[in-house]
Amino acid sequence: MNFDFTETQLMIQETARKFAEDELAPTAAERDEKEEFPYEGVKKLGELGFMGMMVPEQYGGAGLDTISYVLAMEEISKVDASCGVIMSVNNSLVCYGLNEWGTEEQKQKFLVPLAAGKMLGAFALSEPEAGSDASNQKTIAERSGNEYIINGTKNFITNGANADVILVIATTDKTKGSHGISTFIVEKGSSGFSIAKKEKKLGIRSSDTVSLSFQDCRVPASNRIGEEGFGFKFAMKTLDGGRIGIASQALGIAQASLSASIQYAKQRKAFGKPISDFQAIQFMIADMATKIDAARLMTLKAAALKDTNKPFGQMSAMAKLYASKVAVDAALDAIQIHGGYGYIKEYNVERYLRDAKITEIYEGTSEVQRIVISRGLLKD
Ligand code: CAA
Repeated sequence: MNFDFTETQLMIQETARKFAEDELAPTAAERDEKEEFPYEGVKKLGELGFMGMMVPEQYGGAGLDTISYVLAMEEISKVDASCGVIMSVNNSLVCYGLNEWGTEEQKQKFLVPLAAGKMLGAFALSEPEAGSDASNQKTIAERSGNEYIINGTKNFITNGANADVILVIATTDKTKGSHGISTFIVEKGSSGFSIAKKEKKLGIRSSDTVSLSFQDCRVPASNRIGEEGFGFKFAMKTLDGGRIGIASQALGIAQASLSASIQYAKQRKAFGKPISDFQAIQFMIADMATKIDAARLMTLKAAALKDTNKPFGQMSAMAKLYASKVAVDAALDAIQIHGGYGYIKEYNVERYLRDAKITEIYEGTSEVQRIVISRGLLKD
């Protein structure tokens, strides 16, 4: 077992750290407050190669491994978890599936600009009645000659308002349950496609989350990814990798909470000395650091399994389950250490808590992760 990062991985980590501190940090709190999408930041992430990190260079990507992706995601999310999720969705949920199962024509037309950050992608699986129960897809895609006609509603779609390309999961054969679901590429501006509602959220407020409406939306049959009926497995396999991205996002928030706590504890004085001199604070910081390192090792293990073409779905579910809990706990502890100052917007820790909570919900709730993990352990 080797715990050393390669020179390339360290360079990516450093580049991401510098970018996040120089370009995202100055505006992160304000964008959160105003619910402003980070257009400039996302454009620069694209220029750095961070929007298609694991896509081969021939398809516009950076040709890097999943470990590099985890390192970059942690650095970006440490400063701005909203940017983290925008980046994660484009990398793990959109570019990944197109690269794995797209046709050459789909790759040239969509993957190349998505991976280069010239287009933004969204992944539309969730519906009002299909959250955890993801196979209960009410959106219908009906074949008509060389086209499919899509009708239905998607909700809670990250990047939805700003996406140029949306991967839409829809039922093509109601009689076949999860085997009757397919995936389609829908382009912004397609007739019958509209953005229905922008959500006001507790956290990750600088990223957009919207409902999408499809009313007789026609897409060419050549925009279907894989065979008819492959859509549910497409979504599940894609989410296996997506969960590594969200675990890394959680890790970033947790690490930011710890760093802020250490800094504050050293300068805040009570009873005549810095609060870092009190064992109550020291033990909280020790527990935070221990849990964060465990979460980081789990996330990197999932990434290493993926990079070496070994089964990684169960490990990515474990990493997300654990890292998301660590993020929420670390943010809560950071607020406690900051006392009253942790509860107001003068410091970032209240944002960390609001951002952390969603990591226990999206890309599969913690309860769904437990289903995935236990099924893997209990199957014959
Ligand atoms: N890889 C390959 N195949 C898989 C798979 C995987 N990871 N998981 C399931 N499958 C296959 C099963 O083997 C099965 O195939 P067969 O019928 O051929 O045997 C088929 O898919 C159906 O699987 P299940 O019976 O396990 O399906 P289920 O209905 O019981 O659901 C579930 C299982 C794990 C709960 C699933 O519905 C799930 O993951 N739900 C959560 C959905 C989710 O994560 N949504 C996130 C939305 S995207 C998002 O959040 C993005 C964002 O905003 C940032």
